[in-house]
Amino acid sequence: MNHRAWQLREFLKRTVLKPLEKRGTCGLHKELNLPRTRGTLCRYLVYSLTFVTMCATLWTLVLGGGEVITVTFSSSNDIVKAVYKCAYENPDGSVDLVFNIPRGGEELLRLNSLSARDSAKGNKTDNSSSSEEESREKGVKGSLYPISLNSEYLINSVTVCPAGQEVDYLIIVHSATAYFARRRAIRETYGSKRLFGHLTHRLVFLLGRTSDPTATKQIQDEAVINKDIVQGRFIDSYHNLTHKGVLGFRWISEHCPLARVVIKIDDDVFLNPFKLVREVLPEVSNRSRVISCHVRKSGTSVVVRGKGKWVVHEDEFKGYKYYPFDYCNGYMVILTGDLIRPMLNAARLNPFFWIDDVYLFGILPATVGGTKFVDMRGVLTLKFDVAKTCFESKGADCKLLAVSQWRPEESERLWYTVLSNLTESAKTELHVFGKS
Ligand SMILES: *[C@@H]1O[C@H](CO)[C@@H](O)[C@H](O)[C@H]1NC(C)=O
Ligand SMILES: *[C@@H]1O[C@H](CO)[C@@H](O)[C@H](O)[C@H]1NC(C)=O
Ligand SMILES: *[C@@H]1O[C@H](CO)[C@@H](O)[C@H](O)[C@H]1NC(C)=O
Ligand SMILES: *[C@@H]1O[C@H](CO)[C@@H](O)[C@H](O)[C@H]1NC(C)=O
Ligand SMILES: *[C@@H]1O[C@H](CO)[C@@H](O)[C@H](O)[C@H]1NC(C)=O
Repeated sequence: MNHRAWQLREFLKRTVLKPLEKRGTCGLHKELNLPRTRGTLCRYLVYSLTFVTMCATLWTLVLGGGEVITVTFSSSNDIVKAVYKCAYENPDGSVDLVFNIPRGGEELLRLNSLSARDSAKGNKTDNSSSSEEESREKGVKGSLYPISLNSEYLINSVTVCPAGQEVDYLIIVHSATAYFARRRAIRETYGSKRLFGHLTHRLVFLLGRTSDPTATKQIQDEAVINKDIVQGRFIDSYHNLTHKGVLGFRWISEHCPLARVVIKIDDDVFLNPFKLVREVLPEVSNRSRVISCHVRKSGTSVVVRGKGKWVVHEDEFKGYKYYPFDYCNGYMVILTGDLIRPMLNAARLNPFFWIDDVYLFGILPATVGGTKFVDMRGVLTLKFDVAKTCFESKGADCKLLAVSQWRPEESERLWYTVLSNLTESAKTELHVFGKS
């Protein structure tokens, strides 16, 4: 086997393949290490190898240095089919997966930002007239993968977690740039440092960037004062939430790797920290690869086509009516810390998909494998009134763990009523749980 073929094989073995789309603009890739399908994939991989080598040679000889080589193989595994969104289906139900194997694939994987279209067509990335910044932005736009995998932080807070020390739980809040008051409320209530003296717990907020210079400055100040802001380079918007989630996983593995439990929460969610500490942590702390959330079972959530808020391009999950794996309603998700690094690695292998709940808590765990979903819908609610009544009458004893979607029009006052009640309870709780 010549060196080139060996390189290709190593690349195939260890990394992602960039798919070349046959039709449309889907552009997907897939890893080969999917645990459940490793056997099949490896077999096809071996079959493909000859073909790859041939193509490589041909490509080099005939085209004298194009950018990509193409390889095709099939799979009938559902998860693989779903994840390789642009795979095309054969009459027998199997699916052909088409990949680009980039020349110098390792490097490409690292940079991770060639646009699908350009690489598919063999175009070199154009950097003739642009500054480094601009070309990075170009790469960002065309990136197949979550851009937060590689781009640097605009703001980082590296002292949130104590170095080399376990953290009992880390709350990571997906927050929108403009919601200063929500972040303040969270810091003062369920995210407060003063709660639970016997536990090590931390709070961090994830933001994207904003084009508003005033807000940008305010966020910088907020970060200096509170040291709990992490800001990514991507524009903070609804369709960019997957970037935010991946940034979070990356930040945790870099700056809070010893978190035993990670609670991903949105900034419009209220969490009952007493229930968390009393009931949830003992359940999950010592387990591995557990995701607790409002579970959306495999085969039940519709892949929306046509129009609407949740619409998915026809090339993505092509041919699927329902998402073929479990995932979470993402407003509050509790993950065991051992999942973070594998999920981050899985994000390097799965192309960007804009619905963050599906990507972060469906595609990634499905790629990692061996993940157990625990359905907590009984203690989560989207109905603010229900939660309000519950918290007002029972205080911290309310059985609800979290409520989402408090309505902005009744926001702060209502919010603080509930919170002040909990703050009262907190005194007792501190006595029960705290060291003092
Ligand atoms: C390649 O790039 C050139 C200019 O950089 C552009 O005009 C052309 O359309 C591109 N080709 C393809 C196939 O995308
Ligand atoms: C892009 O820019 C770098 C440095 O500015 C240069 O070394 C490289 O050759 C350029 N690549 C192309 C394709 O123009
Ligand atoms: C997501 O962020 C990227 C990078 O900042 C930006 O180019 C893109 O327009 C954003 N997408 C949306 C839908 O806001
Ligand atoms: C987890 O296990 C450790 C030791 O194995 C034990 O000390 C600790 O109390 C356990 N924690 C929970 C919450 O069960
Ligand atoms: C607050 O919580 C306590 C129990 O901890 C409860 O007795 C009380 O009614 C709650 N509501 C208000 C408004 O104080």
